[in-house]
Amino acid sequence: MRAAVCPVHGTPDVVRVVDQPSPELAPGQVRVRVGAAAVNFPDVLLIADEYQISVPPPFVPGSEFAGVITETSEGAEGFVVGARVAGTGLYGAFADEVALSPAALSPIPDGVDERTAAAFGVAYRTAYHALRSMARVHEGDELIVLGAGGGVGLAAVQLGVQLGASVTAVASSTEKLDVAAGYGAKRLINHRAIGLRAALKAALPDGADAVVDPVGGELSEPALRSLRRGGRFVTIGFASGAIPHIPLNLVLVKGVYVLGFQFQDVPPEEFARNERELRDRLTSGRVSPHICAVYPLADTVAALRHVAEGRAIGKVLIDLT
Ligand SMILES: NC(=O)c1ccc[n+]([C@@H]2O[C@H](COP(=O)([O-])OP(=O)(O)OC[C@H]3O[C@@H](n4cnc5c(N)ncnc54)[C@H](OP(=O)(O)O)[C@@H]3O)[C@@H](O)[C@H]2O)c1
Repeated sequence: MRAAVCPVHGTPDVVRVVDQPSPELAPGQVRVRVGAAAVNFPDVLLIADEYQISVPPPFVPGSEFAGVITETSEGAEGFVVGARVAGTGLYGAFADEVALSPAALSPIPDGVDERTAAAFGVAYRTAYHALRSMARVHEGDELIVLGAGGGVGLAAVQLGVQLGASVTAVASSTEKLDVAAGYGAKRLINHRAIGLRAALKAALPDGADAVVDPVGGELSEPALRSLRRGGRFVTIGFASGAIPHIPLNLVLVKGVYVLGFQFQDVPPEEFARNERELRDRLTSGRVSPHICAVYPLADTVAALRHVAEGRAIGKVLIDLT
């Protein structure tokens, strides 16, 4: 089979597309013929060995895919050959085939195509958990989304609007902000053109109820300062490459909450509820991922660079058909 392989840690340029044997099917696993895979920022971090978990090379990157089950082993329950599935894992998806436990899979709903299914999992699950379980966004809340043109950010814009929030989108270009506006963002701030603190003060004189931050760096503190009393700041990641150091007195004096999460700590019933609600929103057509580019597997390096350089608007996919 064809596979993109990370032979040594480094920039996306180290990745090579090669022919290699299909993965062995262990007892309890199923084999999936991958049709589409999504590129997520953590894939870039894993290749650079800058992720919270280190994977020794060589390995096949790719944490999210959609495809069809072609083989099941003894002990694998819940799925049959021919079933359309979407899946997430730490790595392995940028290849024609993956072998994995059915626990990592979910059925693709009728009427949803493979590309949409591949683009929907990680970004929307992350954004929805941040909004629903962490920030507890309600109808009428003022919500600030940083990195609003990126994968998680644009998902947070769409889902925030769905939850009834009034969304202020913050991004680095007019192009990204235009897409965020198309998904319902009410206020748009280009942080390259205007100081973020002043812009937020002018846009939200009474402050915001919640901030979703997948970017970090210089944007986090002005966004946190824009919260009103009782406001919630959810940190999701540091795509800017810089981890901000927030003075704790700000949190004390303003009376705000700073929140983070790891999915393995989320109670199973809460995780299941959020997945169910998200799925309903997808199947009813109320949310759908914005796909800005689709690359063939041979161009995996370009796909990874598209995300690594912060140029993605919504999701970047790799086509394996
Ligand atoms: N906690 C979780 O479970 C979880 C799950 C998925 C992702 N994440 C994290 O969430 C963050 C966003 O992931 P994503 O997939 O949405 O990424 P993405 O699509 O690349 O979006 C990241 C955004 O960050 C901004 N940015 C600023 N400086 C950047 C730089 N030097 N390089 C790249 N982007 C830069 C860009 O927005 P502007 O151009 O508008 O500034 C970009 O749109 C990452 O840190 C990722 O690790 C966490």
